[in-house]
Amino acid sequence: MSDDALSNLLHEERRFPPPADLAANANVTAETYAEADADFEGFWAKQAERISWGTKPTQVLDWSNPPFAKWFADGTLNITYNCLDRHVEAGNGDRVAYHFEGEPGDTRAITYAELLAEVSKAANALTELGVKSGDRVAIYMPMILETVVAMLACARIGAVHTVVFGGFSADALADRILDCGVEVVITADGGNRRGAPSALKPAVDQALERCPDVHTVLVVKRTGQETAMADGRDKWWDDVVGQASDQHTPENFPAEHPLYVMYTSGSTGKPKGILHTVGGYLVGVTYTTWATFDLKDDDVYWTAADIGWVTGHSYIVYGPLANGATSVMYEGTPDTPHQGRWWEIIQKYKVSILYCAPTAIRTFMKWGAEIPAKYDLSSLRILGSVGEPINPEAFVWYRTHIGLDQTPVVDTWWQTETGMHMISPMPGVSETKPGAAMRAIPGVVVDVVNDEGHPVENGQGGYLVVSKPWPAMLRTLWGDDQRYVDTYWSRFKGLYFAGDGAKKDDDGDIWLLGRVDDVMNVSGHRMSTTEIESALVSHPRVAEAAVVGASDPTTGQAIVAFVILRSDDVDADEGADIVKTLRNHVRTEIGPIASPRQIMVVEELPKTRSGKIMRRLLRDIAENRELGDVTTLQDSSVMNLIKDNLATSSGED
Ligand code: PRX
Repeated sequence: MSDDALSNLLHEERRFPPPADLAANANVTAETYAEADADFEGFWAKQAERISWGTKPTQVLDWSNPPFAKWFADGTLNITYNCLDRHVEAGNGDRVAYHFEGEPGDTRAITYAELLAEVSKAANALTELGVKSGDRVAIYMPMILETVVAMLACARIGAVHTVVFGGFSADALADRILDCGVEVVITADGGNRRGAPSALKPAVDQALERCPDVHTVLVVKRTGQETAMADGRDKWWDDVVGQASDQHTPENFPAEHPLYVMYTSGSTGKPKGILHTVGGYLVGVTYTTWATFDLKDDDVYWTAADIGWVTGHSYIVYGPLANGATSVMYEGTPDTPHQGRWWEIIQKYKVSILYCAPTAIRTFMKWGAEIPAKYDLSSLRILGSVGEPINPEAFVWYRTHIGLDQTPVVDTWWQTETGMHMISPMPGVSETKPGAAMRAIPGVVVDVVNDEGHPVENGQGGYLVVSKPWPAMLRTLWGDDQRYVDTYWSRFKGLYFAGDGAKKDDDGDIWLLGRVDDVMNVSGHRMSTTEIESALVSHPRVAEAAVVGASDPTTGQAIVAFVILRSDDVDADEGADIVKTLRNHVRTEIGPIASPRQIMVVEELPKTRSGKIMRRLLRDIAENRELGDVTTLQDSSVMNLIKDNLATSSGED
């Protein structure tokens, strides 16, 4: 029986130092780390100077009532003044805020001055509709500019937005509207997805059957499809916002004024409403956008995520706008109308910073490197990854085929709860290791601890914790302070428990190992899913892998792997041999202890709508159980696909 909280299995020797010219001009240097270590509060006071305050804060952190933090508590600000007005006042009104690219190919460049005018109109319109500071507004939209305008208009008047991802069902939308006490909803007729208009408004209508308190629905016309409008309740955005004045004086709010609630699914039970507040959040995302991406004035920045997730909030909207950056925003899917769409967009706008999820990278691996090779990607200078552990092989593929062997990849670990990057290489300083998130960013303090909450030694695995408060941290769960305390602050005294497994390697660098709920216990060894998945993905035939523990009479749990093969180099005759080959591969990469009992070749994996693999459902399959809750699945047909797949190919060897 092993005493380790989590075994350290995989060893990775590849190293990528920062390019010399990037290091020479980098925003963050080794000194930045030293500065933050020497004076934690002083460091954050300095970062707070990146933003414009109505009243400057005299206090940095108030931690007198843990775990309820206050940051910059006596400061006041308007978050949208920081994102818009101040850039226009500084003479940058003509700078493009977003290059919008619609899926059908329509485009629009919106400048900071134009965005300010749009947001002012929408803020006036919302006020006219009776929305006041502190009221909650739900936003259920496609990836279009009006979504940004709607969020900023709420924030400008102190209303709290709760953006619900457009792929969620009517039920999910209703649950969030009810939990948050929403009275106004902003939506659209639909958005464009996979080459066709996809309606949104019917889901709102269905949701509102359960939500009698919603008195107004504003509807943006995007697709022009037939849309039912309820008399008195539903209004076209253009009719209301179009009429409003484009002049609006922003009011300052206290730093701890609520900004948004973002719902994130707990592993069980009802979704958690993560609450972020204006001051600390803005300082956190402004600083990290600048630091992690080494953001410069002439960068063209693209976070290829949906605004409905925290990544969109922090790194499509608030972080880039507060820095006055020029961003790209794309409405649709990566394979519409062809599998090179992303690379075409990068070539067209000369994107220099790309930020996306490992699930996208593994999909591109599956499609083959010859697709990006057709485009000019030489404008890229920073690549980011977020959302899941990035397998070393996916990291190297990303760096090689998208970064043309020279562009640093920053693997950023954070959560809806943290609001901002927490662990990530700094591109001008860190010698990166494929698969490692490396170190806490300057100003953040994390550790890996064992069951008793003591830091583990280098070379060992355990639980990831955050040791000190940070400005963009969640303040509570909406309406449920006790659940906030129980979920994050009760497992280890005085430490924020992130729910992730992690290890420190021999140099003390941090590797994320997946959710602790997914940890497997094989013959008394606690093993993470991530390392075995990464070993599988390191085989040239494998694009994607998911590993789960299934109960086993001999070993307690046994490893069951699901793999997707790459589409290039298919050898039609390999048949069942691939299973044997992959099992041997894992034995060589890690050792016999990690050898999967079963390996199943599948076409798709079940994923959440934000692209995370749902191992819980795979466990149900591996243990021949009735499937659990599938409502958060991106595409529920994949479970049938997997089952059919298994029926035709026994899966076992
Ligand atoms: O398990 C970690 C994983 O995603 C979780 C947070 O998910 P969410 O709140 O949806 O936010 C995603 C965007 C920040 C974490 O607890 N995760 C996120 N980034 C990484 C990661 N796991 C490993 N490496 C990462 N870079």
